[in-house]
Amino acid sequence: MPQSMKIAIVDDEQDMRQSISQWLALSGFQTETFGSAEDALKSVGADFPGVVVSDIRMPGMDGMALLKRLMSVDKALPVIMITGHGDVPMAVEAMRIGAFDFLEKPFNPDQMTELAKRATSNRRMTLDGRALRRELSDGTGLMKKLVGNSPAMERLREDILDLGQADGHVLIDGETGTGKTLAAHALHAVSGRAGKKFILQSCASLDEETMARKLFGPFEEGGELPLVEAARGGTLVLEDIDALAPALQARLLTWINEQGTPAETRLVAISNLQVQGKTVEDVIRPDLFFRLSALRITPPPLRARGEDILTLFARFSERFADEYGCEAPELTAQEAADLLQAPWPGNIRQLSNIAERAVLQSRRGTGTITSLLMSDADETQATPTMTTEGKPLKEYVEAFERMLIDSTMRRHRGSIVAVMDELCLPRRTLNEKMAKYGLQRSDYL
Ligand SMILES: Nc1ncnc2c1ncn2[C@@H]1O[C@H](COP(=O)(O)OP(=O)(O)OP(=O)(O)O)[C@@H](O)[C@H]1O
Ligand SMILES: [Mg+2]
Repeated sequence: MPQSMKIAIVDDEQDMRQSISQWLALSGFQTETFGSAEDALKSVGADFPGVVVSDIRMPGMDGMALLKRLMSVDKALPVIMITGHGDVPMAVEAMRIGAFDFLEKPFNPDQMTELAKRATSNRRMTLDGRALRRELSDGTGLMKKLVGNSPAMERLREDILDLGQADGHVLIDGETGTGKTLAAHALHAVSGRAGKKFILQSCASLDEETMARKLFGPFEEGGELPLVEAARGGTLVLEDIDALAPALQARLLTWINEQGTPAETRLVAISNLQVQGKTVEDVIRPDLFFRLSALRITPPPLRARGEDILTLFARFSERFADEYGCEAPELTAQEAADLLQAPWPGNIRQLSNIAERAVLQSRRGTGTITSLLMSDADETQATPTMTTEGKPLKEYVEAFERMLIDSTMRRHRGSIVAVMDELCLPRRTLNEKMAKYGLQRSDYL
């Protein structure tokens, strides 16, 4: 039964209030009664741990006005409206404003109980989702590791949160170093399986026979549990799924089918999109691809989210500076421009490497980031040092500005006054710029 979920009953007629309250209490709900909309509004706010049942016709503020107020406070709050017999237009209007459902008088108690059950379970899901998101944006946990405010990055975070709550198998594909493995960790951490096993295995590192034994057994006395067993109830991540031998792909498919839905163990298959210029779709069995790709995450390449480059660079170099016990290097405008223009075939991993080497260089007092980028390009040979197409000046200026505000805010632990001072910005301009770049003071406190 819905413990701790409340039902707020709003009705000016005392008899009606009490009988509704009694019916619902009998069904195991915890109820609270209010004689007026005004009273109810004092107790029911955003994140109210329950649902509202309200009469429409009341003296003073009526049910429709109450509904509107509640929707403006928390638009996901389920509100059940009780309408007079034949009040169809009212009921329609209430639904339009956002009522969860309505009951026409006279109604039978079972109908009310059914509706209350649906509404409270809906409410519980909303609140659980909110709590989770809050916890994650609070900074604890893996999601905080996903740096970047570009639209692509925001979408990746949303995808991870959404899929974390879904129950199917997941395909993660994308270029090397874009954060696929990190996304798999985050996906597990935000899912209902968070407390259970997380097992990660590459399909590229072992020969077929060893891989078969490792994945499916048979279990030998004193040996290790086969991975499909060991991961039971948790998440099994198979990296380089495209390298899995065809026979094993077939066995994996059988295992997936035997699990049914919802799957007890979630499979997360990872593939590197660049394998011989093909995509995972071209390489694995179509039926396996089909079972895996319903839920798919594709972390974007770094060059598709230029806004994040300088922010990531600043974060990485601060972290390495910390590790090596020195100051993070300050970027010249030229270096910033070079970072923004580099093609980043190795994506975030490459950026992190460059940041580490830049920190070491600056500790020694030699070298520039530009030269690091050049030597990287020489090693990979495949790509020119800089992308040939330029970017509009505005993009450079904005990326630079964003990074400056971000790192100054961090240095001053969110002290607006200190940042205004250092950057010689009036408060209003600083506020506007922070809003523009999606920076929030609370993230720096
Ligand atoms: N959004 C991000 N913010 C900060 N760091 C990130 C982000 N995405 C990835 N990283 C870091 O970049 C590095 C590469 O990430 P990861 O290993 O997950 O990439 P990958 O796509 O799995 O690479 P590969 O294809 O080589 O397996 C890791 O150090 C990871 O922590
Ligand atoms: Mg990886």
